[in-house]
Amino acid sequence: MKIPNLLQRKALGYAALATLLLTAGGVIAQVKKGKVRPMTTAQWMKGVMKPHCTALKNGLEASPSKDEIWSELAVHAALINEASYLLMEDGRCPDGVWANAAGKTLREGSAEVLKAIEAKDTAGAKAAFEKMTKGCAACHEKHREKK
Ligand code: HEC
Repeated sequence: MKIPNLLQRKALGYAALATLLLTAGGVIAQVKKGKVRPMTTAQWMKGVMKPHCTALKNGLEASPSKDEIWSELAVHAALINEASYLLMEDGRCPDGVWANAAGKTLREGSAEVLKAIEAKDTAGAKAAFEKMTKGCAACHEKHREKK
């Protein structure tokens, strides 16, 4: 067997390094953006997740009584539930932590919030809200860069 000379070994080293960098870059891009669609994860978080989560929290804390308020709260919960699907699309999901946070905790928690809202059960909706936001926290813990 021929032992690779120094130049060949160097070339192999660079090739390995390039592959590693490309792979790492790919993973970062997947978290921050999908593969084809232009919206970034940060835009979705700012435009949909945060406003609807805050509105839901404040609405439940104010102990809703009127039907119009309940139906507004249902809109917030339904959009967050829909987000649990969107976050799994377009190759955005990089791993099991993300999949579990979005496709399970956020999805099931928001569906429970919605069910409790439909039953006008404030305590039940608040409890389910706590469960739902564990999905936000679990994903951020691993995938949101600390500033
Ligand atoms: C499956 C993963 C995941 C889930 C679930 C998730 N997030 Fe995020 N979130 C991210 C990532 C990734 C970022 C960082 C995006 C970036 O900076 O590129 C982020 C960033 C944010 C930001 C900062 C956006 C900005 O202005 O830059 C807010 C606010 C936010 N998320 C709110 C929420 C709320 C509220 C929930 C739950 C209702 C939630 N997120 C659930 C992944 C997730």
